[in-house]
Amino acid sequence: MDRFLIRGGKKLQGVVQISGSKNAALPILVATLLTDGKCVLHRVPNLRDVRTTLKILEYLGKKISYQKNTVTIEANGQLKNNLPYELVKQMRASFWVAGPLLARFKEAEIPLPGGCAIGVRPVDIHLKGFEKLGATCETKAGDVVIRAKKLTPAKIVLRFPSVGATQNLLMCACLIDGETVLENVAKEPEIDDVVAFLNKMGADIHSDDKGRLIVRGVKALHGAEHTVVADRIETGSYALAAAATRGEVTLEGCVPEHNAILWDDLQEAGFKLDIGKDFVRVHAYDGEIKPLRVRTAPYPGFATDLQAPWMTLMTLCNGTAEVDEDIFENRFMHAPELVRMGAQISTEKSLARITGVKELSAAHVQSSDLRGGFALVMAGLCAKGETEVERVYHIDRGYERLEEKLTELGADIRRYNPDKDEF
Ligand code: UD1
Repeated sequence: MDRFLIRGGKKLQGVVQISGSKNAALPILVATLLTDGKCVLHRVPNLRDVRTTLKILEYLGKKISYQKNTVTIEANGQLKNNLPYELVKQMRASFWVAGPLLARFKEAEIPLPGGCAIGVRPVDIHLKGFEKLGATCETKAGDVVIRAKKLTPAKIVLRFPSVGATQNLLMCACLIDGETVLENVAKEPEIDDVVAFLNKMGADIHSDDKGRLIVRGVKALHGAEHTVVADRIETGSYALAAAATRGEVTLEGCVPEHNAILWDDLQEAGFKLDIGKDFVRVHAYDGEIKPLRVRTAPYPGFATDLQAPWMTLMTLCNGTAEVDEDIFENRFMHAPELVRMGAQISTEKSLARITGVKELSAAHVQSSDLRGGFALVMAGLCAKGETEVERVYHIDRGYERLEEKLTELGADIRRYNPDKDEF
């Protein structure tokens, strides 16, 4: 299994181009199941989760070509309406095929995704929504069988603004005759991107002044071309890495307003930023990092996906910072690894207290999830000496060309596989 070897202590410097958003690309790829028309998607990041999604689409019967971040998806005969567990267990988001398959075939059989490292992650909100739309959901030997004689439009109030459930129900409602209203929906920018793509395919979706999504069903959707929005989590991750190494980095091709809270917090912590229309520059800053208290929340609140990299920055603050993780119940696995690198962190339930230290020290650490893995890479970039980060496959799920981008910014990082490479 691949590892990263990082010689830390270098300030990141230069320009980094932000990739297309993983969390927008995945549901957009899934949405192509709603049509037999040809779909062309640009700026699709080459990531493990994207490749898993393409395998899923191929398994279901699509023909795919993927070249230089452009994916072309075409019909290739009749689609299947079930997935094997092998594919679902690799990526929870594979459950999102349920919505489009149910809409098209009135029946879908998908293995229930289990919990994962960061929490239990049930799919009850998805299933309740399908039931409201006239389906029955039955669990059989680990699979959920979702069936409807006829799908009917409904008003659905989500118990929590789940990103995945909002997307799944949206995709399903597109082909249901009549008006479906989704209330208490997720407002993440990735949802807007999915809506934009669905509307290009001929769907009729808009949000009203109360923030509800109104879907007027259409008979069929056609193929469409779309460019995926910039990845706000990658943007935030590089901004935090620049800040923690006390470097000066320009993030190009991003949508700054999608990280508004993060920019406020970084400035409050002491950093100077230039925020342009499609770029953000983090200026070199050697002063003290002020400790802050942040609480993760649905968008536009502080993104749970940036909580771990933020924590790495706060390990170097002057005082005691706090992080409340309010979205996932078990998202502090990076904390004990950071402690192995000299950080002072205590956690109790959803609260982490981080008392800043002067510097981090290199260590051998393990990533246990995607964003926590990035937080460890970031710590390695700051620490003096050589840090080894194991289980890079988690990080490969969500950061395109990570070591190349960091190397271009002056980092000393290399990928190494102890089973294959010479040390
Ligand atoms: C998406 C993102 C992930 C991000 C998360 C929250 C993708 C591919 N993943 O995940 O990076 O961290 O949003 O911003 O876009 N929940 C339930 N029942 C449900 C659904 C969710 O209880 O039916 C709970 C979850 O366990 C979690 C919370 O709601 O505690 C948020 O989950 P959700 O918004 O659904 O996250 P995902 O869509 O899985």
